[in-house]
Amino acid sequence: MALVLRSASSPSFSPRNLLFLFLIILIALVIILYSISKRHFTITASPIEVSADNVVKIGDSDNKIKAASEMPVKKDLAFWSSDLHDGCRADTASLLQYLNQTVILAGQKRRANPYAKLIFTLPNIIFAHEKRALASVIESHIAHSTSLSEADIKSFHSYYALDPLMASVDAFYCSFPASFCEAYMPFNKSIIWLPAHRFTLGRCSKKEFKRLITHLQLSAQDSPNRPKHFVAAGGRYDLEYIKYYTGLDAIFLPVNSLFYAYNVGKFTQSRAEILVGPLRVRDSPWFVHMRNASARAPSNIPKFVFSTAILLYDFYSLEQLSAHRVVVVLPYAVLSYGITELYTVGIPMFIPSIEFIVQLAIVRDRILPHKDICAQLKFEHLPPQHPKSNHPYSPDLSPDVDIEAFKYWIKFADYYQLPYIQTFDSWDDLIMKLANTNFQLVHDQMMTENEKRRSYLIAEWTKIIEKIEPNRIVPKDYQQAIATLWGKKRLQAL
Ligand SMILES: *[C@@H]1O[C@H](CO)[C@@H](O)[C@H](O)[C@H]1NC(C)=O
Ligand SMILES: *[C@@H]1O[C@H](CO)[C@@H](O)[C@H](O)[C@H]1NC(C)=O
Ligand SMILES: *[C@@H]1O[C@H](CO)[C@@H](O)[C@H](O)[C@H]1NC(C)=O
Repeated sequence: MALVLRSASSPSFSPRNLLFLFLIILIALVIILYSISKRHFTITASPIEVSADNVVKIGDSDNKIKAASEMPVKKDLAFWSSDLHDGCRADTASLLQYLNQTVILAGQKRRANPYAKLIFTLPNIIFAHEKRALASVIESHIAHSTSLSEADIKSFHSYYALDPLMASVDAFYCSFPASFCEAYMPFNKSIIWLPAHRFTLGRCSKKEFKRLITHLQLSAQDSPNRPKHFVAAGGRYDLEYIKYYTGLDAIFLPVNSLFYAYNVGKFTQSRAEILVGPLRVRDSPWFVHMRNASARAPSNIPKFVFSTAILLYDFYSLEQLSAHRVVVVLPYAVLSYGITELYTVGIPMFIPSIEFIVQLAIVRDRILPHKDICAQLKFEHLPPQHPKSNHPYSPDLSPDVDIEAFKYWIKFADYYQLPYIQTFDSWDDLIMKLANTNFQLVHDQMMTENEKRRSYLIAEWTKIIEKIEPNRIVPKDYQQAIATLWGKKRLQAL
């Protein structure tokens, strides 16, 4: 486009040339308008084919994704996050930094992060605690399931209402726990709810759970009184979970590790050990099963050595891991950075099939009414499915109560959604498949998928950035802010 316009501006002004110039400008305008309308089409088209065989297909065609992702991001917005989770803190910060945005990290972990050297030395990453002490609400909310009262939200607002760093913020995002975004509701700036665990994490009473649902529903409604807010999901499981309770179609913004872990190592297959995940476990109860299966396999099958990363390296880097040919993961959650990182590095991955995962009784970090998450919350306290959602089971039913509900929901887990992840039905099946898989081919397929995922994420985040109105004013009066922005007298239970 720029080329056409430049050649059109050559200085010669005879009527014929002027007509020619006029025609060229007209053609250029038509092309610009056409490409803008195409772009709008891409933006409104749903990025998720929810109906298709339970697997999220990203984008509607590779070409469109590419066209959108090549547009340079013009805005420089400032995003605030007080997330607790190391993975979330590294992931979204590095993505936004890649998009030339400013990220203000205001979490109580400060600069501590396993990837600190990779990410926190990037330009445009600001640490709030280096400007001024963090609000006491941030310091007191160090566990994922700490509740947030109206008094907390009010105190957070009063601490930051006149803060110059806060004044510079254009948007907030929250992933772990996503419910912490309730603290940002009085600030008159865009909020991106981006759960990387259930959005309800941290809301362990019936009242708080229901209020949070209302807050997401209000956030998704456009109103002239408040900025644009976004309800997104870090994985397909959470996308469906949000739909179940709120009826909303969240924006799919998968956790990805693609902006800090992509191409950090080489897939050399030089390490013979088969990695077992979770990688930080020293004594996996599954070792004995894999070793026994390997020992009893037919003699033409090679013998495999299994180990976890912590056993091999103590402290390990993604670069070291990428030298391994394959990893067998026994997942504890439906989404984890351990898995997205391995995917991004492109290590072929084996996961138990749904039938086998049921037998193993793993993936215990999933539902809210659970002793390790909300010990007091009972299944009976939870609201029913939203009328706009259409799932046959509740996502919060314990597998001990209804194994069919578990089988239904677990298929939305990242490792059943991402293509090219291999599954196995028994330990013997695992050994046969390890012996018969072309790891290089699987690696190449994963890396091609990673490229697609990168383009998709760039395009989706760019759309969000375009919709955020910068420099909105922080209201000074809490009660008035809540009333004007949310049409309420109060946000939370005291
Ligand atoms: C970020 O800024 C650099 C330097 O101006 C530019 O080359 C690059 O294209 C920008 N990246 C994006 C994703 O807009
Ligand atoms: C593994 O093999 C050993 C030795 O044959 C046996 O004693 C043990 O019971 C086996 N364990 C499992 C879990 O299969
Ligand atoms: C929010 O910011 C906008 C734009 O700066 C301003 O017009 C509006 O009055 C603010 N709303 C509140 C409740 O302060």
